[in-house]
Amino acid sequence: MADIANIVADIAAEMAAAPHRGKVADYIPALARVDIGRFGIAVILADGTVHVGGDADIPFSIQSVSKVFMLTIALGRVGDALWRRVGREPSGSAFNSIVQLESEHGIPRNPFINAGAIVVSDIVLQGSDVRSAAGDLLRFLRFLADDDSIVIDREVAESEAQTGFRNYALANYIKAFGNLRNPVEDTLQLYFNQCGIAMSCRQLAAAGRYLMLDGRHPATGQQVVTARRARRINAVMLTCGHYDGSGEFAYRVGIPGKSGVGGGILAVVPGEASIAVWSPGLNERGNSQLGSLALERLSEATGWSIF
Ligand code: DON
Repeated sequence: MADIANIVADIAAEMAAAPHRGKVADYIPALARVDIGRFGIAVILADGTVHVGGDADIPFSIQSVSKVFMLTIALGRVGDALWRRVGREPSGSAFNSIVQLESEHGIPRNPFINAGAIVVSDIVLQGSDVRSAAGDLLRFLRFLADDDSIVIDREVAESEAQTGFRNYALANYIKAFGNLRNPVEDTLQLYFNQCGIAMSCRQLAAAGRYLMLDGRHPATGQQVVTARRARRINAVMLTCGHYDGSGEFAYRVGIPGKSGVGGGILAVVPGEASIAVWSPGLNERGNSQLGSLALERLSEATGWSIF
């Protein structure tokens, strides 16, 4: 067995010194001022062993990584009926693209592009209100990570709302096709709140453990989701988790992963490891430049791959 502790330490050292770090998301001030020099990694093995490196305990904006947890909650509420309102095919388009919605009648390609995530938020909001639904997500994350300190960064959530013109366009367009049940404003408020959740690599890797353990919570053994559902969430992460960079990520890294514009990536090796990496500089497809590279190094050094 490869020495994971050494591998993680080597990766953290390489990434701390890496010269090409991408570009920090600058559409809101709270993200633009994050230090591009940051890099963190947390690897949690199936037996519970934790290995961390770099800035693994610094909270960052998880942004679109929240879409994995919201999908899990929504599937728990409505089951596979969810797939009548959202597809599960890669889009091959940017995360905030609107073009496919017209010819595809307001059914977004998958739950991980913005359009699909907005429909998922609408499902989670159904029969509730923004405050309680956001509370449900926070409670779920705290339960999964065994950590009550996870919070929503209000500044980020409010800035998302102030600058979210494309998301308003997407939501209104979907609503025009009859695929949103709640008022656009409410659904988007929930979406902006989920994007504003702040977590560290250690917390994020802990929250992803159920996806490596066939749906089981590691502490209690309780099924958070069925094994079948965990496999399927991982499948959608692999095919759609990096937007129009999903093929490249599968080719280079070979494990399911979900990225966010804050520079975080949650990656899952079924039966082996739950991994979170964070570095705020993004590549041209909006995925963490060094986070992707770190996962490539990790999969090469450990042999972890689903292929
Ligand atoms: O919806 C938005 O525009 C932002 N909150 C971005 C979410 C995100 O992370 C997409 N990805 N890379």
